Parts: sequence; structure tokens; C-alpha cells
Amino acid sequence: MVDVLLGLQWGDEGKGKIVDYFAPNYDIVARFQGGPNAGHTLYVEGKKMVLHQIPSGIFHQNKVNIIGGGVVLDPVTLKRECDAVAAFGIDVRKNLFISARTNIIVPTHRALDKASELSKGESKIGSTLKGIGPAYMDKTGRNALRVGDLLDKRFTTQYIKLRLKHQKLLDNFHFIEDISAWEEEFFEALEFLKTLNVINCEYYINDQIKAGKKVLAEGAQGSMLDIDFGTFPFVTSSNTISAGVCTGLGVSPKLINEVFGVTKAYCTRVGGGPFPTELHDSVGEEIRKIGSEFGATTGRPRRCGWIDLVALKYACMINGVTQVVMTKADVLDAFEELQVCTAYGIDGATTKEVPFQMSNIQIDPVLQSFKGWNMDTTQLKLASELPATMNTYVDFINNYIGAPVTYVSNGPGREQIVKI
Ligand code: GDP
Ligand code: IMO
Ligand code: MG
Repeated sequence: MVDVLLGLQWGDEGKGKIVDYFAPNYDIVARFQGGPNAGHTLYVEGKKMVLHQIPSGIFHQNKVNIIGGGVVLDPVTLKRECDAVAAFGIDVRKNLFISARTNIIVPTHRALDKASELSKGESKIGSTLKGIGPAYMDKTGRNALRVGDLLDKRFTTQYIKLRLKHQKLLDNFHFIEDISAWEEEFFEALEFLKTLNVINCEYYINDQIKAGKKVLAEGAQGSMLDIDFGTFPFVTSSNTISAGVCTGLGVSPKLINEVFGVTKAYCTRVGGGPFPTELHDSVGEEIRKIGSEFGATTGRPRRCGWIDLVALKYACMINGVTQVVMTKADVLDAFEELQVCTAYGIDGATTKEVPFQMSNIQIDPVLQSFKGWNMDTTQLKLASELPATMNTYVDFINNYIGAPVTYVSNGPGREQIVKI
């Protein structure tokens, strides 16, 4: 069976920490989409680690970690990350497998990402500049190079062809940066990539499942950044929702069991695009400060706001969420009053549905107030210890979204989590 763990908001919900916490219950942890735009933070032996390409189960020695075919892979980032995990005694040649179908991010993808963003000016997406959009465009445009192509003697010819195509596009953008240093690093990293375990993921994973092994599929980004169902065009370029697990790993929908959705107790977004509950005042600043809301990949300040139940319920619906993990509840410890968004006001009417496009309309959130718990919750271990005010807040959310919150995370540490 395959359980899924993914983000329900605009990313950075704390997926890395929760995957690391759940990993002991599984045999395999597999990333199914996204690429180095992801930044998943976890603490190992008290040290902060941010993973971009490697699944968050990597620090559990006896677990297999898979980079699935739905992922776009930057070999340079991967190499750097493998070196970083090696410092913890992890041998990626033993517990990291990469699908032959995984698409490779080449240096010109990064250049194209940058050139495209520059050309958009004010209306830029605010991408992570990691080459994600251009790499997925080459996948759907049927031009991409894949990890399995690496050992083919035609690889270099194919690379040169792709680079030429990209150069024409870059010329159109008048992009003149010298990327030769990136290319040098890239070719070095490809040699390293050749030494890792490349598998036919779809056969491997289905064989393992048949043999009774348990898989945890780890999502990157969040449901509101999904290419089809997110706040288009301010989204990423992959299917971040549970449906992406099937295409990203090669497993049938029938094999999907639990879908764990991760949400913060409030809401953040990094980059451009609509964010109905965004706070532009000192409360937003306070949340950013207490929650250390700065991007794990780009360091950009994250935009902060109240939890948006309209979007959250929508995300639960399209993912088939069976359990919700609420993270960063402790960040709200200091607030006397909390708000939650229960509807959107659009053009004088209210709706509880996420509109098909949110970029060119004014959305006024309808907010309901709750009393804050106003106490330090970071040391609590048991559901029975949670303050009544927090239970009221969580119960309201459960009822609204129609999925149960089964875990509350109350700090960044592995052990800071309360099972409800
Ligand atoms: P991800 O991309 O979903 O894995 O999330 P990020 O790692 O980008 O961002 C989540 C941040 O919140 C990281 O710095 C985590 O260490 C931190 N974090 C995770 N869970 C909690 C929590 O319950 N409380 C607090 N205070 N921090 C948390
Ligand atoms: P994790 O896995 C938060 C955002 C970018 C930008 C948009 C498109 O850590 O939750 P892209 O580089 O994908 O073309 O950028 O998506 N974005 C993320 N925001 N967390 C992420 O990943 C993100 N990955 C991309 O900021 O708005
Ligand atoms: Mg992140």
C-alpha cells in the first residue's frame, strides 16, 4: 500500500519534518514530483538540514528512498546534498534509488527560468529560479533528457541539440549571462549521478508493494501550487496533489491508502500570486518573526496570514485527504485572538468555493474570530494536555473541512508532535 503525505496550502507546511517523523512506519519514502524548488527542513541530531532533491526519509538508515520519475532533477543540487548527508554517515549508494524516467534539469533551464521571470516584470511568478518551469516544458514538449539516457552514447549529442534550442530562446530574451561555470559543475555532477542506483521505479515499487512493503509518497510544494488546481498562473509546473503520485511513481490509484494533508495552523505563501487571507500589518509581521517564515530554498520572507478554510477544504477534496496534520500551532501561542477565513467575499456576494481564477479579482476574506490559547505549548506531549481553546479551534477546522486533524505539531523538533 502507498500512503501519501502532501501540502494543503502554498508549500512549506512542514512536510519534511512530518515525513521524517512518519518514516519509521514505512519501508520506502518516495518523492513523486517537483524538484529543487522544494526545501524540506528537518532536524537530525539537533542539526538543521534542508533537503531539496532527496526524500526526507534519508536519515533513517534502513529505509529505501526513491526519487520518482515525476521529479525534475538538478544533478548539481543532488551531488551537494549527497555530500551533506554523507556527513551523517548516510551512504546514498545503499538507500537512494533514482527512476530512469526522472527528467534532468540542465543549466540552460535555469537560465531560461531567470530570463522568463525577468521578461515578465511586475507580473513575474516569483519562481525559485531553479529551472522548474522550463524543465517540465521540455518534458511535455517531449525534448527532455532523462536519467536513464545518461549511459546512452547519444547523450552528449542530445544535450548539444537541446542546448542549441535553448540558446535560441535565450537570444530572444536577450539573455547574455555566461553560464559556462554552471555547465562545468553540471558535467561533473553527471559523472557522480552515473555512480548512483538508477532503477525502473514502476517495476521496483510495484514488486515491493506486492511483497508487503509500505511506501510513503512525499509531496513537494502544496495543493494551491498545483499546475491544474492551484492559483494559476502563480503555481509550479507539476501536479502536487495526490493524483501526481500515480504518474510520478507508476502506482495505480487503487494502491493509495491514507492521504495525510499537512497544513499550518495559519497560512503562508512565498512568491507572487493571490493570497486572500494575507496580513499586511503587524500581526503578519509577528507571525513571520515567531514562525521564522523565510524560504528554505531562497531565503525570501514568506507572506503570512490567517488559515484559509475555503482553500483548505478545496485541497482536502481534490486530494482525498483522510487525515490532517496541523503544524506550527506553537507559532500562535502568543496571540490572544485568532481568525479563520470561512468564506470569500467577491463582488458583493459570498462563496465557499475556490474560484477558477483568483488573480484578477478582489477577494475579501470573511473572518471568524477565536480566542487564542495564549500559553507555551511547545513542551506538550499528550492530546489531553492541549488547551481547551486549541481544541475549539481544531474542532472548528475539522468540522469545516470534513477531515480530521489527527496530529498537531508544536515545534520544529522531531519529538514535538501531539497525536490526537
Ligand atoms: P516543507 O517545505 O513543507 O518541508 O516546510 P519547510 O521546511 O520549508 O518550512 C517549515 C519550517 O517550519 C521549517 O523551518 C521547519 O523546521 C519548521 N517547522 C515544522 N514544523 C514546525 C512546528 O510545528 N513548529 C515550529 N515552530 N516550526 C516548525
Ligand atoms: P516546498 O516543497 C513554497 C513557489 C515559488 C513560486 C511558484 C513557482 O518547500 O513546500 P517554481 O520555482 O516552482 O517555478 O516556482 O511556486 N514554490 C514554493 N513555495 N514551497 C515550495 O516547496 C515551493 N516550490 C515552489 O515561490 O511562487
Ligand atoms: Mg519548503
